[in-house]
Amino acid sequence: MDDLRATLGRAVDTIAEYRAGLPDARVAPVASRGDVRRALGDLRDGPTALDEVIDELVDAATPGLMASAGPRYYGFVTGGTLDAALVAETIAAGWDQCAFNEALSPAAIAFEDVAGSWLKELLGLPPTASVGFATGGQGANTVGLAAARWQVLHQYGWDVGRDGLHGAPPVRVVVGGERHATIDRSVRLLGLGERAIIEVAALPDGAIDPTALEDALGAGDTPTIVCAQVGNVSTGACDDVAAVAGAARRVGAWVHVDGAFGLWAAASPRTRHLVHGIELADSWACDGHKWLNAPYDVGYAICAHPDVHATALAYSAAYLTGQVAEREFGGGDFVPESSRRARGFATWAALRSLGRSGVADLVDRCCDIAHRFAAAFDALEGFDVVNEVVLNQVLVRVGDADFTNRLERAIQEDGTCWLGGTTWRGERLLRIAVSNWSTTPDDVDRVVAAIARLRSEL
Ligand SMILES: Cc1ncc(COP(=O)(O)O)c(C=O)c1O
Repeated sequence: MDDLRATLGRAVDTIAEYRAGLPDARVAPVASRGDVRRALGDLRDGPTALDEVIDELVDAATPGLMASAGPRYYGFVTGGTLDAALVAETIAAGWDQCAFNEALSPAAIAFEDVAGSWLKELLGLPPTASVGFATGGQGANTVGLAAARWQVLHQYGWDVGRDGLHGAPPVRVVVGGERHATIDRSVRLLGLGERAIIEVAALPDGAIDPTALEDALGAGDTPTIVCAQVGNVSTGACDDVAAVAGAARRVGAWVHVDGAFGLWAAASPRTRHLVHGIELADSWACDGHKWLNAPYDVGYAICAHPDVHATALAYSAAYLTGQVAEREFGGGDFVPESSRRARGFATWAALRSLGRSGVADLVDRCCDIAHRFAAAFDALEGFDVVNEVVLNQVLVRVGDADFTNRLERAIQEDGTCWLGGTTWRGERLLRIAVSNWSTTPDDVDRVVAAIARLRSEL
């Protein structure tokens, strides 16, 4: 036990030092996947002492770590764990709780209950909605669409849980042209098949065109799921969910909102208008590991119809304490996993440490940083900001595709920051996503100066 205490102490020092170094750290790793693999050596015949295992692990991994938890990482949509959430997660790992149900861990389930209620309050969603602590946006989209699939088929007299999809009325999934690719994967995983997807034109900013949606829905004499999106991964644009929900209701469709990061706009008075009407939907996907800055992996699958949510996802077995009909749903009932990590502790700690005003401030600060990037690039010759910055995403034109790719590579190798490229409306662009709590205006100035220098050197 003393060994454990001492090694844990050293682990805490390792973590604290790593995090203290993040503001000035090189962002890109210096070792490749192959380098790290080679550093690990072969499986040994016998046991290895605790200290030695951990030393080997830290030494081998450190050169291959991406400083994505730090203030100058703008790839994908990436948060960096808040201190309170990190400590909660670390303790939770020590407690090693299984968050399947109350019998396995009353604490794990209670923290999901309470953190889930706080999330609904912050996001302005119905207090009666159910919340599944999923693995992320992909997981939460799949859960939302699983509930949707169950309900729209039920409306047509078909029990998909019992009878599957063979012979079922065809389900159509109506989506915007600029939806996130995870929606398509969820549709595939749920056996609906990509041919069930009906793509509706997007407006220039990437939001769904409500008039085109009306046309696509038509008379609506078939089971229909409509996927809206708040927070386009390139532009940050949000669908007009009120209009989407109005059109969908007319044909009895289920409305699912993919708000992996954009749903957090609801938590700030400054951005709430962008997501007006979200409360009218039937299900929502939102991430914790993006804008809330909770540790990986956590997303929230929220459903306005807890009975449908549980019917689509839950199961029971003789050896599990309590029967489905008798117990309060939660934990594994709202996600596709049984044994699962206790994600409620870290989410609760993130929300407790920030409070209502702290979450709003986090959203506002990231939006301000995005605006600062946009203003700085607009002021520089050779750079053009392409999107209207409404949230935390900035798209920058720097030249033709080849030049953009070369600059992207140079930026990543330079290590001052990390950002990626994307193709938006046929054009290769640099893409900046700001979601880390620790990014400061100074980081923006430092990054813009570095990118301007790298551009002039190409
Ligand atoms: C709109 C949207 N939906 C879904 C996802 C997928 O989220 P995750 O990577 O947490 O599965 C993302 C990721 O960036 C996203 O931006």
